[in-house]
Amino acid sequence: MKILVTGGAGYIGSHTCVELLNNGHEVVVIDNFDNSSPKSVERVQKITGKKVALYKGDVRDKELLNSIFEAHKIDWVIHFAGLKAVGESCVKPIEYYNNNLYSTLVLCDVMRSHGCKKIVFSSSATVYGTPEKLPLDENCKVGGTTNPYGTSKYFQEIMLEDIYKSDSDWTVVLLRYFNPVGAHESGLIGEDPQGIPNNLTPYIARVAIGSLPEVGVFGNDYDTPDGTGVRDYIHVVDLAKGHVAAIEKISASGVYKYNLGTGIGYSVLDVIKAFEKACGKKLPYSIKPRRAGDIDACYADASKAKKELGWKAELGIEEMCASLWKWQLQNPKGYN
Ligand code: NAD
Ligand code: UFG
Repeated sequence: MKILVTGGAGYIGSHTCVELLNNGHEVVVIDNFDNSSPKSVERVQKITGKKVALYKGDVRDKELLNSIFEAHKIDWVIHFAGLKAVGESCVKPIEYYNNNLYSTLVLCDVMRSHGCKKIVFSSSATVYGTPEKLPLDENCKVGGTTNPYGTSKYFQEIMLEDIYKSDSDWTVVLLRYFNPVGAHESGLIGEDPQGIPNNLTPYIARVAIGSLPEVGVFGNDYDTPDGTGVRDYIHVVDLAKGHVAAIEKISASGVYKYNLGTGIGYSVLDVIKAFEKACGKKLPYSIKPRRAGDIDACYADASKAKKELGWKAELGIEEMCASLWKWQLQNPKGYN
């Protein structure tokens, strides 16, 4: 099939392009490189030995999108493009709502006019807000999000569901990612955060390589076994494979929602220990105050994706840390 991947130069998008190409699909990417580099797409081509049709531009540019749909007979769209930093979204809500909501509207409008009505959307465990129970399954209540980024994901889910309600020819797949980490086993593509990383694992990797002095552990008085926050970390390659499973398995129109996680929760201290094993050294850390908006624990019941898509995360915390370390060592300055 021919897949349009929005935000395909980004972290999850680039890994998904590899899995799509390895499974015989054709890939068209649109990315404005707001948070990525065209080098990731070159590396995707190097890993797979296959070509990607790359368009530099904004998903909100209707004319450009129309020209892409005219040039390519697109079967599915996988929509990754968007802004994703929780903290930044509180400072720049207008930019976040504009980019995330408007890009989805323009995209769906252009898809409709070209008769392409199959979309996979990058949603997030953040739509569950404070979990009503653990593990989280797809029937748990959504909403109650605590920042504009999370709220934009929640709104986009509602927009896509409304589009299906208005026209039942649409196929809408909402994939709720838990915490994607790690990198491709080649060490050629990975996460390349600009500036000081906000997320735990890229921060740990920077400490391990010596560019940051110590890991700050945000709180050790949570209601978890060791008091530090617990999350469901999922290898980005497993996550990428979840997208391939979705487009290959789902044939009937409808709205589908899946948690993509491992079902296992690791604490911040567990992750530091696992990374120490991967890099072969002790990593300095100190306990800091809680970070605003953080919850005690969040992990998935991912059994629906296994049952309906035949997809299950295969890689564990060791592979997540080892692949991230390899990417960090091979690319100490990311793609630059
Ligand atoms: P990323 O920033 O690496 O990738 C997003 C890509 O979209 C970037 O290459 C960026 O340049 C591009 N982009 C942004 N706005 C655009 C626009 N208007 N037009 C064209 N390109 C645009 O982020 P990622 O981690 O790969 O995340 C991909 C998607 O998954 C995002 O929608 C994100 O919200 C969602 N998600 C990510 C996580 C996570 O922890 N990484 C968790 C849950 C959901
Ligand atoms: N943490 C630290 N120190 C750090 C960074 C994080 O102790 O320097 C802790 C956090 O307090 C939390 C855990 O590590 O307990 C994970 O934090 P991340 O920032 O890595 O990830 P979050 O769970 O906060 O959020 C991530 C993405 C969201 C996405 C969510 C999905 O940032 O965009 O996963 O579950 F929605």
